[in-house]
Amino acid sequence: MLDTAKVMRIGLLGMGTVGGGVYEFAQARKDMEIAYILDIRQFPELQCTVTSDIDVILRDPTVDAVIETMGGLHPAYEYVCAALRAGKHVITANKLLIAAHYRDLVQLASENHVALRCSAAVGGGIPWLPNLECALEQENIIRISGIMNGTTNYILDSMHRSGAGFAEVLKKAQELGYAEKDPGDDINGADIRRKIVISSNIAYGCVIQESDVAVAGIETITDADIAAFKRMGRICKLIASSRKLSGAVAVYVEPALLEPPMHESAIPGNFNLISFTGEHIGKQSFYGQGAGRYPTAYNVLQDCVDVRNGLRGFYNNKMEPMRVDNSSVIRQYYVRTAQIDEWLRVHIDTILDCGVVTTPLSVTQMHAWLQEQKKTDPGCFVASIRE
Ligand SMILES: NC(=O)c1ccc[n+]([C@@H]2O[C@H](COP(=O)([O-])OP(=O)(O)OC[C@H]3O[C@@H](n4cnc5c(N)ncnc54)[C@H](OP(=O)(O)O)[C@@H]3O)[C@@H](O)[C@H]2O)c1
Repeated sequence: MLDTAKVMRIGLLGMGTVGGGVYEFAQARKDMEIAYILDIRQFPELQCTVTSDIDVILRDPTVDAVIETMGGLHPAYEYVCAALRAGKHVITANKLLIAAHYRDLVQLASENHVALRCSAAVGGGIPWLPNLECALEQENIIRISGIMNGTTNYILDSMHRSGAGFAEVLKKAQELGYAEKDPGDDINGADIRRKIVISSNIAYGCVIQESDVAVAGIETITDADIAAFKRMGRICKLIASSRKLSGAVAVYVEPALLEPPMHESAIPGNFNLISFTGEHIGKQSFYGQGAGRYPTAYNVLQDCVDVRNGLRGFYNNKMEPMRVDNSSVIRQYYVRTAQIDEWLRVHIDTILDCGVVTTPLSVTQMHAWLQEQKKTDPGCFVASIRE
């Protein structure tokens, strides 16, 4: 355990949006010190060693922890593995890294008796993973669902409020800093898929392959779709869902049409709302800033505080490989496509001005059809209708 009277010495990898916030927060504390910064750029104004060589940090026996806020898979993966092997605690905000290498990183941390924390990787500044971890002490978590991506929530909320088209709203989101220059992973659902994989792994004590998780994004939604949803009295949100089954997990990401009394339908702007359902306690929800410099840095620093206070194990050390099976989740879907094929024709329940509503279908059936359909109609859009 770290001596709590001693200052925690930290190597900070990546001095960008989140790393800059971490540096500022750490400067204001007496119990933590950023001893090194690793970045491509130089920061002569800062009072610490700036290096581009990870070994300079890892060879220093006085460094207790490494904070990884560089992003990307490489060299983040190699640096984090090397830090764990060197006996340094690792705190990361990198969902791409944790979703892809969950099992080996948790094992490596365990073998080296150091902590691995990633609270900022899901929900930005919302203390979602620590609360999930806490609930696991007493509860059997059976479901997770929610809005886990602020960019897509901002886009959908703005389209509903203003009636503007997708491209116009995305441009505004980029101007406001709510969307990246390349928003691909946000709007196609890849980002939220990583977050539901990490959350489900922790909640159910399992390992789910990211590529097994069905995903439909919002990149093809139009203002005409939104107008159709308004006529249906519904609001469109990009929702990630998972449910524990016997020997499998149902897990998927898709646009969902919600009725106004549902909490998720009211989430404004770039906020997130993530919920778990416990067998005995029912649904508990966590709302707040899902991204941004200071909210995200808050969760990173909180992880450091927890490590300093002696937390060592991962959020859940059980890691049973788990199959994904969405065949038991049945819903009606809104579908808009330029080409109604034979399969869709026999599954139409209602024809709307803009699209159709299907008869009840499984998530497996709908997503399999969508993948095929996108090859000939890339502008096709689907959303499930939630009760
Ligand atoms: N931004 C958020 O609101 C948010 C929320 C939750 C989680 N996260 C996660 O936090 C991490 C960081 O995100 P961010 O928004 O802070 O990114 P960012 O602003 O791009 O910062 C990354 C920093 O790391 C540096 N860097 C990248 N690769 C490097 C390398 N190989 N060697 C040395 N330095 C390198 C970058 O330098 P250059 O600028 O010169 O490339 C930049 O200064 C990501 O994993 C992200 O998913 C971010």
